[in-house]
Amino acid sequence: MPEADISLQSWLQIGQGIGMESLKIVGGRALRGQIEIGGSKNATLPILAVSLLCPETLLLRNVPKLSDVSSMLHLVRHLGCTLQVEGKQLLLNTATITTEDAPYDIVRKMRTSILVLGPLLGRFGKARVSLPGGCAIGTRPIDLHLKGFRQMGAEISLEQGYISAVVPGRRLQGAEIELEFASVGATQNLMMAAVLADGVTCITRSAREPEIAQLADCLNSMGADVRGAGSTRIEIHGVQQLHEATYAIEVDRIQSGSYAMMVAASGGQAFLGGMNLEHLGQAREVLTHAGVEMTQYPDGVEVRAATLCPIDVVTAPYPGFPTDLQAQLMVLLSLADGRSTICEKIFENRFMHVPELQRMGADIQLEGDCAIINATPADERTHLGGAAVMATDLRASFCLIMLGLVAEGVTLVQRLYHLDRGYEDITTKLLALGADVKRGKVDAF
Ligand code: EPZ
Repeated sequence: MPEADISLQSWLQIGQGIGMESLKIVGGRALRGQIEIGGSKNATLPILAVSLLCPETLLLRNVPKLSDVSSMLHLVRHLGCTLQVEGKQLLLNTATITTEDAPYDIVRKMRTSILVLGPLLGRFGKARVSLPGGCAIGTRPIDLHLKGFRQMGAEISLEQGYISAVVPGRRLQGAEIELEFASVGATQNLMMAAVLADGVTCITRSAREPEIAQLADCLNSMGADVRGAGSTRIEIHGVQQLHEATYAIEVDRIQSGSYAMMVAASGGQAFLGGMNLEHLGQAREVLTHAGVEMTQYPDGVEVRAATLCPIDVVTAPYPGFPTDLQAQLMVLLSLADGRSTICEKIFENRFMHVPELQRMGADIQLEGDCAIINATPADERTHLGGAAVMATDLRASFCLIMLGLVAEGVTLVQRLYHLDRGYEDITTKLLALGADVKRGKVDAF
């Protein structure tokens, strides 16, 4: 097979065939060393959908090799996008689409597929996308997306589990859209729909996550006119057509925060290449207060464990503490000395890691949408022991590894496919930090 095809297949097959692998961890080692943090999953996924908006090539750099990225690549290719791989660069070109139908068997694998709806409506005036359904952490409705498209002139009906959308007159109209909630996906979908609309679209109460500004930067590099991304009022002035561009994906802030807490929880010290504290919002103060000492350098952040301290945290839209770091913080606070609380206000079912952490001896009680964590100091801590545990979702799987690295004895984290959705080469990274881990079809515990 020609080399170009091999590298293309390497992108399309990420995560396939390793579904039921496990990670065996021998706890008790402080992590030390240096790793590089990869490109942001949550910036990459909408930016891959952007390729549908443009008849010319979008060249992307620093795209992370994650199974969610592979899923989105499958989807945009299904719709008509051609994909080339040149070294570590992805070249995407959608001169035209071959279908406007995003089928259930692709969309069900990754609900973020719904982000193709905006580009398809914005450029082609029609789309038929499977309803994404819920996932482990919640029902994940898309009512805010659909309400915004209707305000821009799309006619939308729901039939046989699909969203059928058409734009009479083919071109969306600019509109004033106030979001009832600062939904990241709704903000992104509507931004992408609006860049080719007729007139000006204004999205208020928009999400402010760094991935929103990165999406806007990418769109503007292609000739769009998006203003105010990162604030709660985004103005998109419609243009006739976008043009080719090159865009580099920024470093993943959630992976950065995850590894920073992992290193601190282990009592170690490490350099996280590429990490940018500016993207952490209030998570920077929360992690510092909880005992994660972080020093910014031009090319990354030095992390070391200070004394872990209890803290009360409520998850919130950016710049608040991100729900995507909630499970990881829970493990860190399970090692602090005292009582902490974490209230999850973004998703209705994002405490599935708690029963698994309890099985390893963590003292966590749930009261409604809050978790109460009672922790004892290390020299009194005899109760945290390794166990065979089950990953339930992406961030929960990372937090189980965090506790396994600290607990006495051996931990077996099963169903690693959850992890491969958002953490690139994690086994390599853990070994580089000195962890005693082994990955494979390890069912012998
Ligand atoms: C994005 O999901 C992220 N995913 C999530 O990261 C992240 O947890 C979430 O934003 C919040 O920050 C990607 O960027 C690919 P939302 P998204 O729309 O866009 C409700 C991870 O671990 N809502 O901001 O789906 C919704 O039910 C993932 O990397 C509606 O009610 O999140 C949820 O309760 C997990 N109606 C809340 O808003 C809507 O139309 C936040 O959802 C849309 C959302």
